[in-house]
Amino acid sequence: MFNTSYIEISRKAYRSNIRYLKKIIGKAAFSSVVKGNAYGHGVHNIVPLAEEAGIFHFSVFSAKEASEMLEVLSEKSKIMIMGLLDDPEIEWAIENGIEFFVFDHGRLQKAIETARKMNLRARLHIEVETGFNRTGFEYPDIGALMAYLKQHRAHFEFRGLCTHYAGAESLANYLRIKNQLSQFRKFNRYFVRHDLLPELRHTACSAAALTYPNTIMDMVRFGIAQYGFWPSPETKMFRFRKGTAEKSPLNRMLSWKSKVMVVKQVEAGNFIGYGSSYLANRKMKVAIIPVGYANGFSRALSNTGRVLIRGRRVPVIGTVTMNTMTVDVTGLPGVERGDEVVMIGRQKRMNISISSFCELSEQLNYQLLTRLPADIPRLIVP
Ligand SMILES: Cc1ncc(COP(=O)(O)O)c(C=O)c1O
Repeated sequence: MFNTSYIEISRKAYRSNIRYLKKIIGKAAFSSVVKGNAYGHGVHNIVPLAEEAGIFHFSVFSAKEASEMLEVLSEKSKIMIMGLLDDPEIEWAIENGIEFFVFDHGRLQKAIETARKMNLRARLHIEVETGFNRTGFEYPDIGALMAYLKQHRAHFEFRGLCTHYAGAESLANYLRIKNQLSQFRKFNRYFVRHDLLPELRHTACSAAALTYPNTIMDMVRFGIAQYGFWPSPETKMFRFRKGTAEKSPLNRMLSWKSKVMVVKQVEAGNFIGYGSSYLANRKMKVAIIPVGYANGFSRALSNTGRVLIRGRRVPVIGTVTMNTMTVDVTGLPGVERGDEVVMIGRQKRMNISISSFCELSEQLNYQLLTRLPADIPRLIVP
């Protein structure tokens, strides 16, 4: 092993997550959101697993991510770009049959003109602004939008009408989400009245699909939940509000592991690591782990993080450095170089979840996952 840590991806966990989510969305299509290197899991791992599970639609943020997807995708699958696509990339997207969001007139015009010149049809998803205030056509401009779309109907496939919710994972946003949904319906009615129908209406991300069933429509763009994480504790409580004792149907599929590099004794009265943030007040045994903030283990976990060694939870002591952390293994018999260290995951009967990790380092699930460096090897385990 040339890397200081590695990530295991569980095929079994992925399969059961997908089974659960498919049950929730019924006949609606499943788009697997794989932006941010598949939320840190690696597109090279997730795309084949998703296809095995019968998913053939993938959502990314940018043209760059879409181009990486082309290397791993089977012919049957479709890619949808939800965010950045610069003008020069539009021709490339149309040529490769890549679907993309259009959310302003400039981009729409460019897409139509390019498709006409190429004698192809652009595969468009019209994104509408319903209250997130990020991207999307505004309702007052819908008349001009409709006229333009009708005039150029021959040059595009109307793949979708869509929007994105502003925080469906939090009950605090309940009214805002409801208003967004009714605003979306207003857009939809306008399209129906003008007899221009999208193939798919899609608005829901994980949290929306899990907590607002009427956002599910024809397709759901599932990100975080497919990787086995509840978007928030509220979302989980919503699904388990009857207080059932059954096991969570979403299972983390990622474990992050390393090995002990050095074990040593430190005499009482010595500071451990940089500066004076940790003082040994007794004779201690410590283990040095070759994972630091450059490897995705947040510096905010200095003196607060936990890892598992020999089935026990042991504390990080002193400052997390660029490439190492030190943990207290005093009283843990037999620890030696090469012992497995679990930063995220299970060891014997103990578990370190991403959410406990996140709470300690004040990062969101999403942030922690996408900050796991791409060069950590990821291997699929059954
Ligand atoms: C437009 C859009 N759709 C869907 C998603 C997926 O969200 P989630 O990971 O919460 O399911 C995202 C993620 O940020 C997004 O930006």
